[in-house]
Amino acid sequence: PFVVTESCIQCKYTDCVAVCPMDCFFEGPNFLAINPDECIDCSVCVPECPVNAIIGAAEISPEQQHFVELNRTLSRHPDWKRIRQQKEPLPEHAKWAELKDKLPLLLV
Ligand code: SF4
Ligand code: F3S
Repeated sequence: PFVVTESCIQCKYTDCVAVCPMDCFFEGPNFLAINPDECIDCSVCVPECPVNAIIGAAEISPEQQHFVELNRTLSRHPDWKRIRQQKEPLPEHAKWAELKDKLPLLLV
């Protein structure tokens, strides 16, 4: 499956959800997660993300490997709802798009 990684945090552009044929993105407060059991590996979401947050699970760097399991668990979180339509990004997305090490800011 494909996996949402670090750069999505605090940005949440949601361009990705508009193109997913499976509607397998789930939304939290400041991040999205892909349900790996529903993703069909089509990769059409990858070029849509302005911050290149979506990566194939097989190509993920060791530093971001934990996002594979995180997408699985967060996509099943009872408070995370399926998101099918694009919406406004988070208010300070431009600032956060430039920053790294955002994992401690992830809200569940
Ligand atoms: Fe959806 Fe395809 Fe992206 Fe998987 S790879 S999340 S099915 S758009
Ligand atoms: Fe996140 Fe990129 Fe989608 S920032 S919400 S993975 S378009």
